[in-house]
Amino acid sequence: MKKPPLLTASLYLVAHCMLVHVSAIADTTPSNLESTTIDSTRSIASQLLNTLGQKLKTAMSTDGPASAVSVCKEAAPAIANSLSAEHGVQITRVGTRVRNQKMGHANAWQKEALTQFEERLALGEKPTDLEYWKVVETTNGKRELHYAKAIVTQPQCLTCHGQTQDIPAALAEKIRLEYPNDQATGYSAGKLRGAVVITKPM
Ligand code: HEC
Repeated sequence: MKKPPLLTASLYLVAHCMLVHVSAIADTTPSNLESTTIDSTRSIASQLLNTLGQKLKTAMSTDGPASAVSVCKEAAPAIANSLSAEHGVQITRVGTRVRNQKMGHANAWQKEALTQFEERLALGEKPTDLEYWKVVETTNGKRELHYAKAIVTQPQCLTCHGQTQDIPAALAEKIRLEYPNDQATGYSAGKLRGAVVITKPM
């Protein structure tokens, strides 16, 4: 009889996988302290997204997309810097493809978060629910929180991040002059644009 050993083997495998899975979940279950920290970190990420979103909307409707480019260029890092100083964290935005080559590239853990977001989006998770966090030990033995919140492309982002042929010529020219190595076009609504990423000492 060949079936029972095979069955036992596969049951063992399933059980083993479940064990691995369960212990992975247990490892990331937040303590009370951690969940308070995650809540406050999440709110910093939302502040950046909301403030920037409002500024962008106002600039687009009052002065048009070409001047909104400057809003993105100046307002995004300014808001991020003041939130960083106010909350004692490092906060910035990274892209799946990048326009600002100095600031927009993801490091190793941020890439891991973006990859996870792509996978979860593909599985049908709601874009607004996508967040990632991990508490890690740094080389000098301190602990820090790595937190990321997904930025998903909205229809209003396409003026500046959509298909190149759809971007108005004068705007495309302005973007090209300010960001000669721009890669952040070709998006469509619902696609992952990037993430707000926060590093917070614990
Ligand atoms: C008016 C044009 C414009 C619009 C509209 C716009 N962006 Fe951008 N976006 C930019 C510019 C310019 C930059 C580079 C900013 C900088 O220098 O930090 C940028 C950078 C980014 C970055 C940082 C990563 C990178 O590529 O440098 C993200 C993330 C991003 N945009 C997301 C969005 C989302 C989401 C929307 C819609 C809600 C949006 N943008 C709408 C012009 C725009």
